[in-house]
Amino acid sequence: MPIYIDNKKLLFHIQGKDTSYVMQVIKDGYLSHLYWGKRINKYRGSNKMIYVDRVFSPNPNMSDRTFSLDTIPQEYASFGNGDYRLPAYQVETKDGATITDLRFKNYKVYKGKPKLKGLPSIYAEKNDEVTTLEITLTDDLINLEVILKFSILEEFDVISKSVEFKNNGSEDLKLLKALSLSLDFRESDFDLITLYGTHLNEKNISRRKIVPGIQKVESSRGASSPQQAPFLSLVRSNTTEDTGEVFAFNFIYSGNFTAEVQVDSYENTRVGMGINPFNFSWLLKPSETFQTPEAVMVYTSQGLNDMSHKFHNLYMNRLSRGKFRDRLRPILINNWEATYFDFTEDKILRIVEEAKNLGMELFVLDDGWFGKRDNSRTSLGDWTVNEDKLPNGLHSLVENVRSKGMEFGIWFEPEMVSVDSDLYRKHPDWCIQVTNRPHTFGRNQLVLDLSQKEVCDYIIQSISTILSSAAITYVKWDMNRHLTDVGSVNLPSNRQRETEHRYILGLYRILEELNTRFPNVLFENCSSGGGRFDAGMLYYMPQTWTSDNTDAISRLKIQYGTSIVYPPLTMGAHVSSVPNHQVGRSTPLDTRAQVAMSGNLGYELDLTSLSIEEKNELIKQIDYYKEIRSTIQFGTFYRILSPFESNEAAWCFVSKDQAEVVVNYFKILSQPSSPIKTLKIKGLNKRYLYKNRYTNEVFGGDELMNAGISLPIKNHDFSATTFHFIKYNSED
Ligand code: DGJ
Repeated sequence: MPIYIDNKKLLFHIQGKDTSYVMQVIKDGYLSHLYWGKRINKYRGSNKMIYVDRVFSPNPNMSDRTFSLDTIPQEYASFGNGDYRLPAYQVETKDGATITDLRFKNYKVYKGKPKLKGLPSIYAEKNDEVTTLEITLTDDLINLEVILKFSILEEFDVISKSVEFKNNGSEDLKLLKALSLSLDFRESDFDLITLYGTHLNEKNISRRKIVPGIQKVESSRGASSPQQAPFLSLVRSNTTEDTGEVFAFNFIYSGNFTAEVQVDSYENTRVGMGINPFNFSWLLKPSETFQTPEAVMVYTSQGLNDMSHKFHNLYMNRLSRGKFRDRLRPILINNWEATYFDFTEDKILRIVEEAKNLGMELFVLDDGWFGKRDNSRTSLGDWTVNEDKLPNGLHSLVENVRSKGMEFGIWFEPEMVSVDSDLYRKHPDWCIQVTNRPHTFGRNQLVLDLSQKEVCDYIIQSISTILSSAAITYVKWDMNRHLTDVGSVNLPSNRQRETEHRYILGLYRILEELNTRFPNVLFENCSSGGGRFDAGMLYYMPQTWTSDNTDAISRLKIQYGTSIVYPPLTMGAHVSSVPNHQVGRSTPLDTRAQVAMSGNLGYELDLTSLSIEEKNELIKQIDYYKEIRSTIQFGTFYRILSPFESNEAAWCFVSKDQAEVVVNYFKILSQPSSPIKTLKIKGLNKRYLYKNRYTNEVFGGDELMNAGISLPIKNHDFSATTFHFIKYNSED
């Protein structure tokens, strides 16, 4: 068992392949956090707490001025009895008090990992690959039970954590804060890494030294958001991509979150992650339970690439699900940037014809195919075919596309409603709103109230009707605005602050149901690009449209930043036309392709207006991608040069058996008298020989990793260079 328990000392040691996490019940039944870091064979308490009397740190017991909750490292801290740091949770009792006190009650440990009802979570394929420890803490005065659930996937070397609250009393309780994890480090010498951005500019990397006080990232937008990601890591100041300690946290949730770090006066650091307590509460009636979403913790002593590998490996194999989890993803053509709302059936079929001839595999019909949808002001919610544009109906179009040898996919934005829609005219009370307050609009639309069951049922029904009406094998699920005027006509006043979490629970129910009904449909998550690119959505949709920004140079940063947590397999990446529609930049077609081929390749441009030369180039790109696709999509991704730090970017993809590597190097602006550079490839087998697929030169893996490969000088801006090496056996 990777969880060792000393029953006498009430000491819990969770052990992964390279990680140890240790807690102990200390004086008066408090649960203390003792260690998280590199694997320890047996924990004997060498770093034991030194108790000292600290002025202004209150004591639960008058007889011991050295014991204060304010100074002990805690595992799930309460509020109100001496610990002035950020609490992990807060509960209001019927009398209005908000003070609680959790003490150890019991624990259980078992093989396997139960599903979290209604929530996405890490799963095990076999019970023996995961061990779960549940530690129950109670506040006996108010009959509150809090179960901390830790699961260790030993081989994946990650710990997942969630918390369940139970009201065992006879009076209502109200949760005001309910984090999924909280823990204390007895040190504060860390840099904090977070991901931030906005529409068209997602997943920038921020790294700064932590300082005394609170630093946090959060969302209160109703979605995980492109503004801040539900991720943080604490790293040493000398941690690089390939060396040094990393303590990383990621939240498997798609709604409002907080990810907070607090450095106290004694150089301790508390980390908390969970549902954002701002504008949140949850009424817990007698005998009811509340399950928090799950958070994932990754430790490594080998730098950020290794941290990312652990997230990638876990999310590709034990979060992502269904038929497409292990399948090569299709090369698609999407008509959005080719036509926007302005298309005819004939135009679509001409694009499909070209796409097929170029080697593409899936056509995606984007926004504009339903209701009277000729612009963004109308028809969301009315999921019936627009017969002005598609006079022969959807079934006929799909059959036509399939007869040309292409699969068919379709766009929806199911969580939204236009005021100009039959749905809104019939059910104005079905959107998120506060009675008597005017609506606030985003992209001219309102958000449906997914906290209402019948609204979710309507979405399931209307999407199912379309998906059953034709042989559709792919869905792009969009979400183009955040929540405002948050409230639900369906909830009583003391439950209004539950609306946003109930919205996410409603969304997850819809997605679970559609996944079950349509196991042969590949769902792609989208929120104006990467606006809700999070681990929660990955449980239902194995890929995400990374950004609406299709400019290759912008994408270097966006894809590099996204890879910090999410694998290339999950990133939709398209070649579009130039000048680019988002930033006006013109980049070479080869560079656009190399960037898009670094993820899930697609095209999003008018194929009917390409020159013969361009078409020939596309044919070559697609052939090449088909050759390297399994290494790109299922290999190990290494970041080599960061576009955040210089005028260049580089990364490589190494197949699981290390027999193939694809290397991409990008130089943003061409330089006068350019220095001659070499690029050190990562992840190869030092004992293998590798043959360059283009030049037939043969080099050792150790040589490519240590001496590196010389980079050609290219005399133009936005250049791309790619290398493709295959393991070479001397008899070849
Ligand atoms: C936002 C998406 O990110 C785009 O790709 C496109 O689908 C539009 N919405 C359509 O409205």
